[in-house]
Amino acid sequence: MPKGYSDVLIGLQYGDEGKAKVIDLLAKDYDIVARFNGGANAGHSIETDQGSISLNQVPSSIFQTHTLLYIGSGCVVNLEKLQKEVEKISAMKIEMKDRLFISDQAPVIQPHHILMDELMGGEIGTTKNGIGPAYSDKALRMEGKRLLTIKLGDLLDDPKTFFAQMKNNFIETLNKHDLPARDCELTLQHMQTALDFITPFVQRDTLWLQKKVAKGAKVLFEGAQSVMLDVTKGCVPFVTSSSTVAGAAYVGGDLSPNYHRKTIGVAKAIMSRVGFGPFASEFGGLESENYCMEEGGNSHNRDYEERTYDTTAYLQSENPFEVGIALRMLGREYGTVTRRPRRVGMLDLVQLTHAIRGNGVDLLFLTKCDLLQDFNKTKDGTIPLVTGYKLNDEKIDYVPGSNVSYRKVEPVVEKRDCFTLDTTITEWEKLPPPLLTLLTEIEKKAKCKFLGIGTGPQRDGFVLKG
Ligand code: GDP
Ligand code: IMO
Ligand code: MG
Repeated sequence: MPKGYSDVLIGLQYGDEGKAKVIDLLAKDYDIVARFNGGANAGHSIETDQGSISLNQVPSSIFQTHTLLYIGSGCVVNLEKLQKEVEKISAMKIEMKDRLFISDQAPVIQPHHILMDELMGGEIGTTKNGIGPAYSDKALRMEGKRLLTIKLGDLLDDPKTFFAQMKNNFIETLNKHDLPARDCELTLQHMQTALDFITPFVQRDTLWLQKKVAKGAKVLFEGAQSVMLDVTKGCVPFVTSSSTVAGAAYVGGDLSPNYHRKTIGVAKAIMSRVGFGPFASEFGGLESENYCMEEGGNSHNRDYEERTYDTTAYLQSENPFEVGIALRMLGREYGTVTRRPRRVGMLDLVQLTHAIRGNGVDLLFLTKCDLLQDFNKTKDGTIPLVTGYKLNDEKIDYVPGSNVSYRKVEPVVEKRDCFTLDTTITEWEKLPPPLLTLLTEIEKKAKCKFLGIGTGPQRDGFVLKG
């Protein structure tokens, strides 16, 4: 019989739902927090009294110092970035020694992965971390005699051979794409330094997590990205390259599924998406997508928007594209990793219900409820919600699998009363009645219970449902 158990926390929309803040809150009840997918493309931020910290590869429970931190075999590891991240955490006097464990089965991001992502990721709007090429090399395995994917453990056991292999992969990639010769020697040297730094954290026992849980450890799996960015279930190709859904925790997280207890989903009250791809509830639709993603998302960054737009006037606009700009600015919806503007949209209850059903979500956390108050200052002062989808004039209750169909979906928009939130409230029952009504509507529609809501960016900015 299992002694410990595991819960899985995933994002239910397009990423950046505020997963890190919820992990930071929940981690007090767990012994280990473990990542099972993705890599440095994740930007998981926690607002502390000393400012905001953004974590990319290290699990988000660093401040809950009793928790161990595990990076599973389903992740892809950027050695240099991981070294910098660990140094950043250590500089805050948070000890990583004997606390951070990294699976030696995780593939290493190689220089040619970054190069290929820079060459080819533009049409998707990737984070340029080499994620797609690293996962595709893992699936491809070899090209003739040339090994494409290199595991952390192999690199540790025989660095000479595998660094030479990385160099070879880089040269072959340059040749394949008719690119001028370029040296990757310096990068490899930095990687070697980072490997030396990371070595004490690498776990050589591939059953490490399994054994811990068998002895009674409680694990919280921390999903990166989110279900709509899943490489199979999302709007492929406008997705990341890993499996982000709840079930993936029991592949990339190195634990058998018989320990699973609960699935916790995190969504945000005003949605966002970075990168190209369908987004049915986007304020301003295609105009917003093209504007946000111009020059890979770099044209209209936060500085540009703050210099250019007046949020009060834009909130009052009749044009949803302009309302979206104001909501982005007020909600500070800019990429944690890339600083790009996040496309923003109405809370989409069809998409949310689809994600909850498809992943068997037991408990829901809705972040950023405080930001719904911005709708008080719009022309009609109500909260718009997507409550239905019509495809070719027929009602559907799921997210279409084809992008062509998803682009054709007409969202049914309904309005709900807005509210003013006293952020000192800590009891669920004392939340403003229009917000409670909205939350009850979501629970009924999604057949899911609330765990809590977010009421502000700060660490204690939440209200839990008793
Ligand atoms: P993650 O990738 O899902 O961990 O989310 P990110 O860290 O990329 O982005 C979420 C942002 O929203 C962070 O800056 C959080 O501090 C912030 N945030 C989280 N919860 C809330 C909330 O309830 N209200 C507000 N206003 N901001 C929040
Ligand atoms: P967290 O964990 C939001 C998006 C990118 C791009 C697509 C593919 O912080 O929620 P990739 O670099 O993964 O190949 O990019 O996926 N993306 C994210 N969007 N939050 C994330 O992570 C993301 N990770 C990747 O913007 O559209
Ligand atoms: Mg993020």
